[in-house]
Amino acid sequence: MIEELFTKLENWTWSSAVVGLGYVGLPLVVTQARAGVPVTGFDVKESVIDSLNAGRSHIDDIADDELAEIDARFTSDPAKLSEADVIFICVPTPLAVGKLPDISYIERAGEAIAASLRRGQLVILESTTYPGTTEDTLLPILEKSGLKLEDDFLLAYAPERVDPANASFRTANIPRVVGGATLRSTAAAELVYRRFIEKVHPVSSARTAEMAKLLENTFRWVNIALVNEMSTIARAIGVDIWEVVDAAATKPFGFMPFYPGPGVGGHCIPLDPFYLQWAARVTGEGTRFVELAEAINSRMPQVVVSRVQDALNDHAKALRGSNVLVLGVAYKKNVRDFRESPAKETIGGLQQHGAVVTYSDPHVPSLRDEGIELDSVPLDERTLADADCVLILADHDAFDHQLIARTARLVVDTRNALGRRGLRGDNVVTI
Ligand SMILES: NC(=O)c1ccc[n+]([C@@H]2O[C@H](COP(=O)([O-])OP(=O)(O)OC[C@H]3O[C@@H](n4cnc5c(N)ncnc54)[C@H](O)[C@@H]3O)[C@@H](O)[C@H]2O)c1
Repeated sequence: MIEELFTKLENWTWSSAVVGLGYVGLPLVVTQARAGVPVTGFDVKESVIDSLNAGRSHIDDIADDELAEIDARFTSDPAKLSEADVIFICVPTPLAVGKLPDISYIERAGEAIAASLRRGQLVILESTTYPGTTEDTLLPILEKSGLKLEDDFLLAYAPERVDPANASFRTANIPRVVGGATLRSTAAAELVYRRFIEKVHPVSSARTAEMAKLLENTFRWVNIALVNEMSTIARAIGVDIWEVVDAAATKPFGFMPFYPGPGVGGHCIPLDPFYLQWAARVTGEGTRFVELAEAINSRMPQVVVSRVQDALNDHAKALRGSNVLVLGVAYKKNVRDFRESPAKETIGGLQQHGAVVTYSDPHVPSLRDEGIELDSVPLDERTLADADCVLILADHDAFDHQLIARTARLVVDTRNALGRRGLRGDNVVTI
């Protein structure tokens, strides 16, 4: 049966199923369908399936038009998984209490696949996780089916690197690292991705691929912490951190620019380093970089609250009772995702100090999370003029930056959104 699978992979006659249709899974469905792969999307959330079957996308990066152009099926029936030759797992990997990895979604997905696993299938895990998950956790679950790895089915890990709202790099042109639980698993997964991804980079094991993903995201997390610390130092010295970074970035080698901000959000960067930390702890190793970066990055919302307080103070105003208009509550520009967004802690901090907080975000019409209950207000002359302080947390392109610069009395710009556009006047301070 494995030979038959290879024949299908080589002849491009294989079909696939994607388990988990979120920010990662839905673009994977669309990319494969565009490459001519017969693909079925599977999700446990009926609302997601209903919406996709009605042609409505719930993901920023996939427009309804793109769904209309492709031929794909969407289902919540796990029995359909047995029809696919290749099954991708793209389910969430959040943190449990105590910042411990929660791989229960991978376990549940594995159980659903095992229930109808058949000979000649290849299972590929794409969710971010700690080294060992594929071979030590997922494999035993799949083998509960009575089938054996290598003899009956193949298994690989291939971390997703998608960057929501990045128009230059989408699933098809982001190079893919692939590591199999066996050599034939790596070879099969490589054939799969070569059909719809421009560059594939095979590695010697699933563990290597799992670790590579954690290195990438921890690298980002640590460097963001470094530049956040630099911004505090720059402010104390009296220089502009954005000018400093842009100057350093002219070095053509050995430097990569990272920019300060109000903290780190989303489903990946703030979580993945803790998967690494857990894996390191099991081996008795420490992760001092992760701890230091956590200490700096997690403090940023408080730094922002203090910055707003200081800026108002310079205008002879107390934070208590002041109207603060927050611009952008998504975790980054041009997306609607507010998971782990530092905006929530910042708004909470401002409210605790007695500020009257409103927000405007064209991508997030209402924010009901972590004790916050607010609806987005329109960004117009009146709301801007009514604010004692405008706080820019996410630099959405949809904001009218000219209007903000012209109308707001005081702006705390944590993204240098106005400076980048040559609009930083005397009414603007940064972090
Ligand atoms: N969002 C990103 O930018 C990004 C980038 C790279 C990697 N990742 C990683 O990819 C994985 C998925 O992230 P996401 O952002 O797409 O998550 P998401 O929350 O957007 O989507 C996950 C989907 O999986 C579904 N699901 C949960 N359990 C299921 C099950 N047992 N069977 C079928 N469907 C199930 C959920 O209903 C949801 O629709 C995570 O490990 C994440 O760390 C995310």
